[in-house]
Amino acid sequence: MKKTVTVLRGDGIGPEVMEQALNVLNAIAPKHGLELTYHEGLIGAVAIDQTGTALPDETIEKCLASDAILLGAVGHPKFDNDPNAKVRPEQGLLKIRKSLGLFANIRPIATYELLYNTSPLKEKLLKGVDFIVYRELTGGIYFGDKGRGDDGNSAYDHCNYSRMEIKRIAHLAFQAALQRRKKVTLVDKANVLETSRLWRDTVKTVSAEYPDVELDFMFVDNAAMKVIQNPAFFDVVLTENMFGDIITDEASVITGSIGMLPSASVGEKSALFEPIHGSYPEGAGKDIANPFGTILSVAMLLDHFTLHEAAEQIRNAVDNALKEGVVTVDINQDKHVSTTEAGAYIVSQVS
Ligand code: IPM
Ligand code: MN
Repeated sequence: MKKTVTVLRGDGIGPEVMEQALNVLNAIAPKHGLELTYHEGLIGAVAIDQTGTALPDETIEKCLASDAILLGAVGHPKFDNDPNAKVRPEQGLLKIRKSLGLFANIRPIATYELLYNTSPLKEKLLKGVDFIVYRELTGGIYFGDKGRGDDGNSAYDHCNYSRMEIKRIAHLAFQAALQRRKKVTLVDKANVLETSRLWRDTVKTVSAEYPDVELDFMFVDNAAMKVIQNPAFFDVVLTENMFGDIITDEASVITGSIGMLPSASVGEKSALFEPIHGSYPEGAGKDIANPFGTILSVAMLLDHFTLHEAAEQIRNAVDNALKEGVVTVDINQDKHVSTTEAGAYIVSQVS
């Protein structure tokens, strides 16, 4: 199988974790008949510095012409405290989602026994936690009309959804549920929002096509509590853009290390894979960042290419690394390895 992958190393620790992820991908690909061609593109603060924009057209073209995209991280503190700045790294993220039509953001939330003691939750709540969030990524309040009233003293952000936008991600969520514990929870605010009522209505219709999957509904405020009080309740969570942004961040901290979590953002034609952690600029250049989130994102990329066995090998290798204590400083302050060593361990496991 021949595939083209566009690599967006991005900012901060992005290039370092990407290096390890590419080493792993290059080690495992030939074993599964995968021939890769890489393109490199700019995004984020590095793109602003070099081209004046957070996502140059050239990057979009490369991404559109490739089978998948691997992204490191985006963001730099010099832009953080100025939300009015005309160009900001995050614009690159929003633009890439929209330009490539990446309408579904998929984040698996799995817990590792070794991380139970770094989780803010008690161990008894973490047993059996294994869910996946399907967050709509190109609609809702993020992309609706926004602006200021004429006198500048009022502002608005419109939240719009169409049935089409809801249906296409709902199908992905139900299909995922069929491979899992067969339960979808739609998280919304249908007691207040009309868009949420459209979500309920549409998702109910879609669910008729999946009689084996149980569908339930939960208001987002209640879901936020449930993630803390009984996270093992969830199997597949389906939700709109803004609620998904908040719920996925909340869910990520209960796992005990945000550095371990991968994500996929998929659309009709493109698919992008990235760790959920940020660019951690303070850690850049020190060889201390946790590469496992990016390496597990490579596993999701391989699943996307239907190379499930290869993906599983990577996940098993990461499990072994945790069991053997081959972890970076974010996981164990007393005994840890460098980014490079953690990556090399996974390479040795999959080679
Ligand atoms: C995320 C981030 C982005 C979002 C920001 C940086 C625009 O928080 O990927 O979850 O809100 O979607
Ligand atoms: Mn977020």
